[in-house]
Amino acid sequence: MDEDLIRRIEAQLEEESVRRSPPPEWPVLPDLPVGRYTDEELFRLEAHGLFRRTWVYAGHESELPEPGSYLVFDRTGSPILIVRGHDRVVRAFYNTCRHRNAPVVKGSCGTARRLVCTFHSWSYDLEGSLVAVPDEFAFNGLDRSERGLVPVRCETWLGFIFVNEDPEALPLLDFLGPVAREITPEYEGQPLRIVHRRRLTLACNWKVVVEAFLEVYHLRTVHPKTLAPYLDGKASAIALFPHGHSRMVTRAMVSDGGKAGHEGLPVMPTVNRLLQATSTSYLIFPNIVAPLGHAGFPLLLAWPRGPQTTDYEWIYFGLDWGDGDPPPAWDQRMALFDMVMDEDMNNMEPIQRSLASLGARDIPLSWPERRIWHFDVHVDRAIGQEAVPAPLRVPPLLDDLIET
Ligand code: FES
Ligand SMILES: [Fe+2]
Repeated sequence: MDEDLIRRIEAQLEEESVRRSPPPEWPVLPDLPVGRYTDEELFRLEAHGLFRRTWVYAGHESELPEPGSYLVFDRTGSPILIVRGHDRVVRAFYNTCRHRNAPVVKGSCGTARRLVCTFHSWSYDLEGSLVAVPDEFAFNGLDRSERGLVPVRCETWLGFIFVNEDPEALPLLDFLGPVAREITPEYEGQPLRIVHRRRLTLACNWKVVVEAFLEVYHLRTVHPKTLAPYLDGKASAIALFPHGHSRMVTRAMVSDGGKAGHEGLPVMPTVNRLLQATSTSYLIFPNIVAPLGHAGFPLLLAWPRGPQTTDYEWIYFGLDWGDGDPPPAWDQRMALFDMVMDEDMNNMEPIQRSLASLGARDIPLSWPERRIWHFDVHVDRAIGQEAVPAPLRVPPLLDDLIET
């Protein structure tokens, strides 16, 4: 973020803090169709049409420390093997053998000199080429050069590994656009590693989880003791970006509100004053919420498993501390972070039950909730608007507000 952008965001915070009505450019939106949180057809389109055709977070480079380190990413229906090559490049392949399609590796991570299939031991090098076939003479004219592992698009940004099963997809940085342009200078060159991770399964639609992090309207009700005393929920500056991404900056009520709960943790010198003094959070479409901080930040990841089932995880990244356990200040920070997350999590399943009840009606959204509309528009865009059942479509009515 450059100084000019920071000043614009600060001016926007000032403007929002005294706002008494939505601005003239805010259109009268139709209600958001409530069936979007329960419909089986829409779920199928999201799981197949969206998550298999977009960039999704699959791991972090620190999890693949040496050539031959691998992990298996299995969130989109087709297990994907991600492996660091001898040239230290991280590559992705379907974890599916070119013989009879058995999984090449078992388990979720490990280190190997070669990737040897679990069924009949065909072996592949770390770059995916088929290099050895037991009793190869018994196959007629098998051309090993044509039977390498099937590659999957794989690109990294700030050490985060993303995969995309669509061979035609935009390059990752083009897809991320302003999100990458703004975040990269804040953390570039700072070695990050995983401090903390939690996983749970929630009986709710994945969009219920994502959308709960796209507004601060709920601060005083859901987080009365943990966040509401520190953040001014009325002063939130929102930016909508192409491809469904968005940013929300919320003003702190105490001078170092952005630092609350970070006592004793190292400050990354690259992180700008806005990130230090506010709550600044991005939605990286479709399913990553990243509330940034000067000591590190989590990625909150929602993975659809069923129309009313979501696997949710949060992975907290901090500055690499060297050998041994994380510095004790992290324990305190993570306990506080998990407490706030639990306040949100406790809400999810009751909301879903209510959304799925006969009493549920379509949803009116306010100006400070506009990131939700933008997000849902891009869910439909990613699927293909024509494919979405007509009563559930969310028309693109906020495109004039998109910043590029
Ligand atoms: S299925 Fe992999 S070697 Fe046979
Ligand atoms: Fe919340």
